[in-house]
Amino acid sequence: MKSIKICIGSACHIKGSEEVIEIFKNLISKYNLEDKVELLASFCLGKCTKAVSVMRWDGEILSVCKENAKDIFEKNIMPYI
Ligand code: FES
Repeated sequence: MKSIKICIGSACHIKGSEEVIEIFKNLISKYNLEDKVELLASFCLGKCTKAVSVMRWDGEILSVCKENAKDIFEKNIMPYI
C-alpha cells in the first residue's frame, strides 16, 4: 500500500486541501486503486508558499490545487503506483 500525504496545515487548508482530498478520493475510486494507495492527512510539510502540498510515498512533494489535481494525479501519481 502506497501512501499519499495531503497537508492540512493552515496555509494549505486555506488553499483548498479539503477539495484536493475530495478530488483524489474520487479518482482513487474511479480507477479502483483503493487497495493500492491510501490518503493520509499531514501537518505542515514546509512548502507553504505554493499550492496545497502533497507528499508522494517516495518523499516527492507536489504542489496541487483543485484546478490541477486531476492532471497531477494521472501524470505524477498513477503511473508510479
Ligand atoms: S501548511 Fe501545508 S506545507 Fe505548510
